[in-house]
Amino acid sequence: MYSAKMQIQYKEPENNTHLSPLIDRFGRQVDYIRLSITDRCDFRCVYCMAEDMTFLPRHEVLSLEECARLVRVFVALGVSKVRITGGEPLVRKNALWLFQEIGQLTGLKELVMTTNGSQLEQYAQALRDAGVKRINISLDSLNAERFRKITRVGELDKVLRGIAAAKAVGFDNIKLNTVLMRGTNDDEALPLLNFAIEQDIDISYIEEMPLGAVDHTRDSTYISNAATLKSLQSHYPLVSSAESSAENRTGPAEYWRVTGTQTRVGFISPHSHNFCESCNRVRITCKGELFLCLGQDDKVDLMPLLREFPDDDTPLINAIIASMQIKPQGHDFDLKRAEPAVIRFMSHTGG
Ligand code: 5AD
Ligand code: SF4
Repeated sequence: MYSAKMQIQYKEPENNTHLSPLIDRFGRQVDYIRLSITDRCDFRCVYCMAEDMTFLPRHEVLSLEECARLVRVFVALGVSKVRITGGEPLVRKNALWLFQEIGQLTGLKELVMTTNGSQLEQYAQALRDAGVKRINISLDSLNAERFRKITRVGELDKVLRGIAAAKAVGFDNIKLNTVLMRGTNDDEALPLLNFAIEQDIDISYIEEMPLGAVDHTRDSTYISNAATLKSLQSHYPLVSSAESSAENRTGPAEYWRVTGTQTRVGFISPHSHNFCESCNRVRITCKGELFLCLGQDDKVDLMPLLREFPDDDTPLINAIIASMQIKPQGHDFDLKRAEPAVIRFMSHTGG
């Protein structure tokens, strides 16, 4: 399917990381991209979407060939980790083709994805075969009725079958992503951890972020990860794990190990923890907007460059390198603000 000519030669990242052109004004090296391949989803989670969402028309969304070309260029510029997100990536027709293309790129060390799990039962094996190493599955409740309320339409059973399928095909790592909301599912922190331990998988608790206007104010549902950690610690011995040490910390999560189990517990705390100084990532929306920070509006539109120069990657490469100069120092989420700091939804930017 992919036909555009490869314009740049791949160089081994081991040899050229120190020469990577993707270094920002604060000395942070970008080696991780998160690419949203669709704004659509078969769920309508209350913290993610408004009840009534309008999705983008097809021509405003990158084609899968354009997605593949973008990833190829980023990998040639030194990116070694790619996460495919959405919306829900598996609702995109032929998404598997893209995973297969990306999975073949030499120089890419990690191809990973975030999914709501609704179609994993069907796709887990093919994704594994395509080279997807690790997978994050959203799960906010183990109670079917409540699960339906949070996702507005989702079926818990399907997702549980998806998780079972993912385990069966042997991903290196499976992690649950749980958004806790006060008064909705904050009483499930422990049951969800018990489930993760039973399943030998990991779990991360995510504080709800003020992205896009939803039907509640974020202040009303906020529960801090510090409170969640404290309540879990009264049930399990948790040992801070090496991944959260300063040298290894490149992401927003802090990890803890549950003693005597395989399970790691992560806390993604955009409000209570400042992780920006070690940020190594940028995000690309399904419209081809390169966002330099999840919580800021600084961006570069890559779609016009993809479409105006179908056979020449030079303008694209130059724009990506130049974008490093506008990567902001950090985000600025404020729960008390009346309007969300950033108007776009997570389903637009990619989780
Ligand atoms: N705040 C925090 N997490 C969110 N997600 C979607 N919207 C938000 C938000 N406003 C999470 C989902 C999923 C991942 C893709 O992003 O739960 O795990
Ligand atoms: Fe879909 Fe994920 Fe948003 Fe829920 S959080 S509506 S599963 S994209």
